[in-house]
Amino acid sequence: MKNFSIKSKKDANVTILGIESSCDDTAAAIIRDGVILSNVVAGQKVHEEYGGVVPELASRAHQQNIIPVVDRAIARAGIEKSDISAVAFTRGPGLLGSLLVGTSFAKGFSLAAGIPLIEVNHLQGHVLALFIKEKDGAYNPPKFPFLCLLVSGGNSQIILVRDYLDMEVIGQTIDDAAGEAFDKCAKVMGLPYPGGPHVDRLAKQGDPHRFNFAKPRISGLDYSFSGLKTSFLYFLRDNLKENENFIEENQADLCASLQFTIIDILLNKLKKAAKQTGVKEITVAGGVSANSGLRTALQENANKHGWNLIIPKFEYTMDNAAMIAITGYYKYLNGEFAGQDAVPFARTQL
Ligand code: KG4
Repeated sequence: MKNFSIKSKKDANVTILGIESSCDDTAAAIIRDGVILSNVVAGQKVHEEYGGVVPELASRAHQQNIIPVVDRAIARAGIEKSDISAVAFTRGPGLLGSLLVGTSFAKGFSLAAGIPLIEVNHLQGHVLALFIKEKDGAYNPPKFPFLCLLVSGGNSQIILVRDYLDMEVIGQTIDDAAGEAFDKCAKVMGLPYPGGPHVDRLAKQGDPHRFNFAKPRISGLDYSFSGLKTSFLYFLRDNLKENENFIEENQADLCASLQFTIIDILLNKLKKAAKQTGVKEITVAGGVSANSGLRTALQENANKHGWNLIIPKFEYTMDNAAMIAITGYYKYLNGEFAGQDAVPFARTQL
């Protein structure tokens, strides 16, 4: 790696440009000394009509979005390009074509600006989003060690976090992610993509105990959601044979019962993890953490088991670049830089 001038921990104004392009959001953010200065996300409407993310369309949209999104992040932060100390990018996991756009852009930016490059694991970013400081001084980070329930469209994991850059996955899904279970079951009910927020909305008017769906019997702290998806599908298929309006007539109860089952599966293993590790500092991350039922269930469990529960700001739970920039910040302070030969990975472990 070329020798760049690196600031030390004591220096002020460590300014990181974060780039996120792992799935269907093109995002850029600026963080200075841990404080968020800007956070820009461009979504991709092009996937809606397909009921899921189409990888090739996602990478093309990233190519169109990335320059305007980065420009906007720099302008909103009120800084100059020359103020940026390093550029951090999501190396994986995610869609390979999408990751390539962010990775190539970050490499080009690093070369052109003469600043170091920092690779970030998307999952680590979700966890470190809890350490983003607001401009008005708002800051409520968890204390180490803590457990993070990471639930998104692509991941369901329980992570034991010992320090900023010291994390261990102690439980994870062996098949579908929790968000996928929401989205796939919503799709068979005819709800738009992504289905999670629609299930959440409809569940509010439904009875969570009306229908029972399969729960996995897996030892340890791992998750499985594919059995639930299949049981939901068969249940609908059998009932539609008797009544072709079954879904419309029971939509709210179906959503409430499905949501109840997913939350029950998630909370069961989280409670087990808290008991096994003795850790009572509990956090949540990823898109599914926006679910109102999950938030309520987490709070109830926190009250019951004496957990200190920390839920990040909504905008930092979804895919965003602020979480990539904050991870880049801690890696910068730790002197962890990437070379121009860094290639993205579709699947990576912490
Ligand atoms: O972390 P995220 O933004 O990105 C990916 O992993 O792609 O998570 C997106 C996931 C989708 O599966 C979406 O349905 C789910 O988060 N989601 C929700 C809610 N809001 C987003 N699931 C349940 N209830 C919600 N309110």
